[in-house]
Amino acid sequence: MLNPSKKTYSSRLSVLLAGLGLVSVIVMGCTQKPVKKQAATLAPVVASTVSAEKGKKLYGNMCSECHGRNGQGVPGDAPPLRGLVGSRVKLTDGTTVMADDAYILQSIRKPGAKVVNGYSAMPDLGVGDADARTLISYINSLK
Ligand code: HEC
Repeated sequence: MLNPSKKTYSSRLSVLLAGLGLVSVIVMGCTQKPVKKQAATLAPVVASTVSAEKGKKLYGNMCSECHGRNGQGVPGDAPPLRGLVGSRVKLTDGTTVMADDAYILQSIRKPGAKVVNGYSAMPDLGVGDADARTLISYINSLK
């Protein structure tokens, strides 16, 4: 004959095991939280590195023939982009402008709007907004 107390024992055991499983899932869930937070703060850094790498490729294809392979510029042809970020640029109209991201974005997308003193205007290469921002990440890395 089947022992009823044994049956109860084994079902209690399975409840206990299920409970343990649940507790360990909860504990693991809790200990994983700080890791997730850390990943979130690291994400922008990783993203900007990736973006600068992509920008480097675009730069090599679209810009390097005039601005030089490493952004060093070509005398008489196109100004250097290395060291440009944060500097003051003299324009053909005699004014100066701070080379921040907004100025660089305009230089790429609307090249005729502000022309660097001593140069003829850069041609409009039809660079889209997303590509321009990727290029800016790269130009920012040329410090
Ligand atoms: C055909 C040659 C040529 C190409 C290609 C070219 N540029 Fe230029 N770029 C110039 C010249 C010339 C100037 C300076 C005159 C002016 O400001 O328009 C200039 C100016 C700039 C400036 C402002 C520099 C400063 O000192 O203020 C930026 C930023 C710039 N270019 C970015 C780019 C990027 C990014 C690309 C590629 C998408 C590119 N250029 C492609 C010729 C070129």
